Amino acid sequence: MNKWKIGVIGTGGIATERHIPALQSLHQKAELSAVQDVNKSRAAEVAETFGAAHVCDTPAELFDLVDAVIICTPNKFHAELSIEALNRGVHVLCEKPMAMNRYEAEAMKTAAENNNRILAIAYHYRHTQEGIMAKRVTEAGELGKPLVARVQAMRRRKVPGWGVFTNKELQGGGSLIDFGCHLLDLSLWLLGNPEPVEVSAETYNDLSRTPGQVNDWGAFDHETFEVDDHVTSYIRFKNGLSLQFECSWSANIKEDHTSVSLSGVDGGLSVYPFEMYQTKYGAVWNASPVLKEEEPSVVATRQMDNFLASCSGEEELIVEASEALRVTEIIDAMYESSDTGRAVTLKKEEEES
Ligand SMILES: NC(=O)c1ccc[n+]([C@@H]2O[C@H](COP(=O)([O-])OP(=O)(O)OC[C@H]3O[C@@H](n4cnc5c(N)ncnc54)[C@H](O)[C@@H]3O)[C@@H](O)[C@H]2O)c1
Repeated sequence: MNKWKIGVIGTGGIATERHIPALQSLHQKAELSAVQDVNKSRAAEVAETFGAAHVCDTPAELFDLVDAVIICTPNKFHAELSIEALNRGVHVLCEKPMAMNRYEAEAMKTAAENNNRILAIAYHYRHTQEGIMAKRVTEAGELGKPLVARVQAMRRRKVPGWGVFTNKELQGGGSLIDFGCHLLDLSLWLLGNPEPVEVSAETYNDLSRTPGQVNDWGAFDHETFEVDDHVTSYIRFKNGLSLQFECSWSANIKEDHTSVSLSGVDGGLSVYPFEMYQTKYGAVWNASPVLKEEEPSVVATRQMDNFLASCSGEEELIVEASEALRVTEIIDAMYESSDTGRAVTLKKEEEES
């Protein structure tokens, strides 16, 4: 079998720390063939380090050389680059968030469908052992009817001080669109992608706009900080489920806390660490598995393997574009609710007309 020729656009941190090493660990199936970055010397350095044959001047040049591309640019460019790739017949693994807003995300999904190409979004929490385990448990009905979900994506003092993460124009938002999106995605997947009907939210950035903050992930300018660093939300779904959500880049807490908890009639679970409790024989049982810690590289390889296997039709794609679009719709509604000070009702277009 010929190896998949893979291109990478945007050769920064996530490309070199996760995706390219994942490709290298799958060298029997795929090879890094071409790279492109607006910072050409960075692209050349990455090509040299990881052995890519081509350093391209433009995305179009790269699309002519590869079977699939990994988009690792700031969020603003996810949609246009993904759509151009798909229209040229190139499969896409795009970094999260899918896009800046639901209109862009919808256009990406349509381009994938029209061109019969794979469009995967890098919501990698689904590929963690805890995420996989939780999916198996919920699909097996171990929790009974799920009722309530709680998402906490809480970092203590970790505003990303590098790149453009605090630039609204290039990223579309802060802690929610950057980090909260991962755990929101995981929770929706575990709940079976329920249809949201109403979203309330509040966003904050008072802490990061105050001078003299402690930050573990490098320096940022509090005066130009223009995105959210803390978001709370409450989501109601058509099937009666409700979800409480909180995310932060920079909370006043003892340590980071990342969790999705689900509570059902017969049991409850939370991930990171994975714990499960079930009602049996008139008592609440601790039914938690004993899991060994796994390296982030294992998760990145699992994600890449699923992407490649989906491109060749051997596996179902784990993160469907339609599901990532729903995450984007909810994020849009959270920002809108905070801006307007009102709950946002989500309606399907046919219900609106
Ligand atoms: N899955 C995760 O957990 C995770 C973690 C970090 C970042 N990300 C996502 O990955 C993306 C990149 O983040 P990063 O941390 O690698 O940022 P980064 O700043 O380290 O790298 C971004 C790279 O993109 C290049 N670039 C900018 N505009 C470009 C354009 N129009 N065309 C080509 N290249 C361009 C920059 O020169 C830079 O080299 C973002 O969308 C971010 O949300 C995801």
